[in-house]
Amino acid sequence: MFNLTIDLPEAPYPIVIQNNVIKEMGQKILPFIQRKKVVIITDKNVYAAYGEALIQNIEKSGFQVHLILLYPGENSKSLGVLECIYKELLSYNMTKSDLLIAFGGGVIGDLTGFAAATFLRGVPFIQIPTSLIAQVDSSIGGKTAVNLKEGKNLVGSFYHPKAVFIDPQLLQSLSPRFFSDGMAEVIKYGCIKDSELFLKLEKLDKDQLMLHIDEIVFRCCEIKKRVVEEDEKDENTRMLLNFGHTFGHGVEKVFNYKKYTHGEGVAIGMYHITKKSEEMGYTQMGTSNRIKALLTKLNLPSQLPDIDETQLLEALSPDKKTRGDDIHLILLRSIGDSFIHPIAKRDLKDFF
Ligand code: GLY
Repeated sequence: MFNLTIDLPEAPYPIVIQNNVIKEMGQKILPFIQRKKVVIITDKNVYAAYGEALIQNIEKSGFQVHLILLYPGENSKSLGVLECIYKELLSYNMTKSDLLIAFGGGVIGDLTGFAAATFLRGVPFIQIPTSLIAQVDSSIGGKTAVNLKEGKNLVGSFYHPKAVFIDPQLLQSLSPRFFSDGMAEVIKYGCIKDSELFLKLEKLDKDQLMLHIDEIVFRCCEIKKRVVEEDEKDENTRMLLNFGHTFGHGVEKVFNYKKYTHGEGVAIGMYHITKKSEEMGYTQMGTSNRIKALLTKLNLPSQLPDIDETQLLEALSPDKKTRGDDIHLILLRSIGDSFIHPIAKRDLKDFF
């Protein structure tokens, strides 16, 4: 079991990493709720696998549980679904003394967080992330959002949960593809901030990863904690977490979010940008080959697919990584040492 606190001046909150913690949630939520009403937002897949176990445990502690069950997938992260959630919350008579729980991957976490941020101008919520990507990244740091048809996460807010409860045991049921998807973000943490973590990932074989997963999740959460504490509102250091994401998001978008998962896009982006920055003399030679070897071991792609340059450039905008006419690329000096490299958007094509 590992405990961390996100030490933000206005609202510090705990992150608990504990195997089987979902079977103790009835007790764990006590400090965060004043009345007896809990609304869980989840998707049909997560519900089928773990919903009953979670609900039974919470009900055993005397809480009244309401469930909002969504279709899995990115399409649920929309303004239309958000409005349905508001209506359900009204029908359950949800107040600021009750508790909302996001139980799922990144889509459920971002959407529930945004509903919590905006319903009645803010109701308390906690995160119980179930995918690797959500456990190491999206459940921590208060980014909440919905998508517009023009792009992902274009409407959102910073709104922190009251607590994050991470159960690494839930990862056992992830498909190999979605385990690898999350491992792309784990590799990212090694690249930007933790050469020891990167080395550890290089040494472990694929089957050993799951044996060490709680410690790996902890190390990623610890890095995210430090970065968020330093730059909560994403104005500076937090942008380092976007390593690989500029091209990654572009690749995802060009293929209409159907061919590549988020992690696969990031994997391609990390290798591609590092190869280019090596050629341009910003990065220690050999770094991109190490990244590629690790991605390949974890069944992640590294090559930029055959896409039209204009199409990809188009897909990069509008994007939250742009500031005015500049775009902030994240580059590595070497593994574990990253920096922000602002360039004019028109110079982006040099990185192809
Ligand atoms: N996922 C990147 C961030 O939280 O800033």
